[in-house]
Amino acid sequence: MSENRTSYAGQVVIITGAARGIGAATARLVAERGGKVFALDIAREGLATLQKELSLPDNQIATIDLASQSSVKENIDAIFNLTGRVDALINTAGVVGPTNVKVEDVKWEEFEATICVNLFGTVWLTQAVVPHMKKARYGRIAHVASIAGKEGNPGMSPYNASKSGMIGFIKGVSKEIAPEGITINALAPAVIRTPMNADTSDETLKYMISRIPMGRVGEADEVAEILAFMGSSACSFTTGFTFDASGGRATY
Ligand SMILES: NC(=O)c1ccc[n+]([C@@H]2O[C@H](COP(=O)([O-])OP(=O)(O)OC[C@H]3O[C@@H](n4cnc5c(N)ncnc54)[C@H](O)[C@@H]3O)[C@@H](O)[C@H]2O)c1
Repeated sequence: MSENRTSYAGQVVIITGAARGIGAATARLVAERGGKVFALDIAREGLATLQKELSLPDNQIATIDLASQSSVKENIDAIFNLTGRVDALINTAGVVGPTNVKVEDVKWEEFEATICVNLFGTVWLTQAVVPHMKKARYGRIAHVASIAGKEGNPGMSPYNASKSGMIGFIKGVSKEIAPEGITINALAPAVIRTPMNADTSDETLKYMISRIPMGRVGEADEVAEILAFMGSSACSFTTGFTFDASGGRATY
């Protein structure tokens, strides 16, 4: 029988944003496929729930603040020092920032906070894992961007800027690290049923669904399947790419 290249057996996988939503679904799937999951998030409570569910030892969960460069570096280095390897980083942490606010009315602090978590967090995580992966001449990096980074949503300029910034960053870095056996890719979901959308009005959800040819929202488990591929050794000839999870909304 041929080798199952989507298996994570023997691999160390860091998942950020793991406390809930897409990140928690991905942590479950990667653990099910044999990965040693290190679950990171700013939300302690959600991490504790996941820890119980997956029976993770204390040293495999940790709080991290993606808006802090030192928090990111300390967390990644601590995992490497413990395990001696980082096979995959799957970054799903993110914030929406202001919604329904015209560009001229966005407060700079809110703009900066959104960019800091989504874009700078992506940069700092990548900078922290790449040296370890280079030494191993192997690595998989997957960051969750958004369809907002490809198409832009009105009234959400900080989120749009952060997510398209992520996509541009990933494209360039992919070319730097391709010869080192490391792939880095983005994923651009449309609307997915997670706590992030819990407060979205029915009207807005209806509008979003009306733009999706499949006529429904996506589920976190569906997104996790794509991320689990992107983080596995099976994703061996695709890098710098933006994968789609939009029910047919985006075909590019
Ligand atoms: N749900 C959607 O419709 C949708 C659509 C497109 C893209 N996305 C993106 O998918 C990713 C996951 O979203 P989700 O729907 O699971 O959202 P979610 O809000 O359920 O989960 C996001 C997680 O990120 C964590 N987080 C927030 N700020 C952090 C910080 N500073 N440091 C560390 N962790 C932090 C949160 O605590 C939370 O557990 C996000 O990047 C989001 O932008 C979501």
